[in-house]
Amino acid sequence: MRRRELILSAVATAALPVARTWSEPRRGLPMPRFPRDFIWGVSASAYQIEGAVHEDGRGQSIWDTFCLEPGRIANSDNADAACDHYHRYREDVELIHQLGVQAYRFSISWPRIQPTGAGAPNEKGLDFYSRLIDALLAKGIEPTPTLFHWDLPQALQNAGGWRERDTVERFGDYAQILAARLGDRVPRWITHHETFEHHVLGYAAGVHAPGLALGFNSFPVAHHLLLSHGKAVQALRSTVKGKTQIGIAQSLETARPANPAKDQGAAQLMDMFHWGLHVDPLLLGRYPEEFAASVAPSVHDGDLALIAQPLDFLGINYYNPSYVRGASPGSRVPIEDAPPPAEFERTEMGWPVIPQGLTEMLLALRDRYAKALPPIIVTENGAAFVDSVACDGVHDPRRVAYLDAHLRALHKALDAGVDVSGYFVWSILDNFEWAEGYRPRFGLVHVDYPTQQRTPKDSFHWYREMIAAQRNVTRREARA
Ligand code: FCB
Repeated sequence: MRRRELILSAVATAALPVARTWSEPRRGLPMPRFPRDFIWGVSASAYQIEGAVHEDGRGQSIWDTFCLEPGRIANSDNADAACDHYHRYREDVELIHQLGVQAYRFSISWPRIQPTGAGAPNEKGLDFYSRLIDALLAKGIEPTPTLFHWDLPQALQNAGGWRERDTVERFGDYAQILAARLGDRVPRWITHHETFEHHVLGYAAGVHAPGLALGFNSFPVAHHLLLSHGKAVQALRSTVKGKTQIGIAQSLETARPANPAKDQGAAQLMDMFHWGLHVDPLLLGRYPEEFAASVAPSVHDGDLALIAQPLDFLGINYYNPSYVRGASPGSRVPIEDAPPPAEFERTEMGWPVIPQGLTEMLLALRDRYAKALPPIIVTENGAAFVDSVACDGVHDPRRVAYLDAHLRALHKALDAGVDVSGYFVWSILDNFEWAEGYRPRFGLVHVDYPTQQRTPKDSFHWYREMIAAQRNVTRREARA
């Protein structure tokens, strides 16, 4: 279950049962071989790791504001310090280098670049990302920045945020600044991150910043987010000299009916809301008929063409399929999230572990979009578990098993002919998990927050060895 369990229904999730089963990675069974040019990567985002929220001219973001509101974040945590990556980025780049990945996906904090979301750039903010990019390139790691991972400048929110079309123009200007100042060194850009989650969690259900519970009145937000993606693509393509790849990272999963006999319709409706509203416009240049009337007041001539510009890749974040059912009588929404069947292991987020959901989703993408589908990169996949911190290391066998199983599931989609060109683990470090605070730990590297000490977990070593083995296979093959 994704975080939107709080969204479509007021139904509280039942207490989570203790995980029932989990399987060891298939030791002894070699990981199937991935294509020679497959991109191995790791992901993070600015607000979740940087800290230093008051430094070097950074403006306030909607998440700074949200964290100050009582009751919004578990344990009243905030990201003022987070992983202190702003000061420790060199150490973190060294860890990423040791991991042996080819690419690092991070995000750029808009309020560091334009403290109020408009006007001249803040040189110190640009300088931080410029240094980070240089440090990555010096180690042979491809910087893969995301322009927006949910941390809107508060000043723009005060003017309406993504409800307002003007924010689209501001995002275009911001993209232009980044393209002009960093574009010479960035081989791969991601415009937005999970527009569905930002729309639904932030503006429909109000459980993420900016905390607005507009329900179905939030539809303009979806349109403006997608439109601003189009603006950013335009700005990047027209400004960046030379070759660069441009994509967007969307969360995707197929919805499953809680009761196959009764809830097929609910699952279809959920897919239409998720895929139809947030992916169809990007790849097909249209909204589903069912939503056309709701978005129509926001859509101007030419908008859909701007949204549907060709992409070099589609980033997909996958964690688990969702389970849904028809709403209870009297509910103000037609569908509700449902708890996943009890036989599935669950992570610390309460999300079920269903690797075959990744295969299913990738096949569904191919079937739904056919020739309109660009190459896919899995831009996030990972899990939060309670790790065991011991004197001989940090042991996280369940994360190893999760990653192992999901890579095999991804490989099945490759075998079936789906064009997947890369895979990024979420996340390099334990970090600030939004409204859940610091409790869920997703990192390949353990962070002891009081001391900021980093310790690579067993999963870090597993991922490193797996990538190295893939590369060795490739070299041998190349010699043959
Ligand atoms: C995604 C978020 C990302 C991280 C993972 C666990 O939906 O966008 O920042 O929190 O979930």
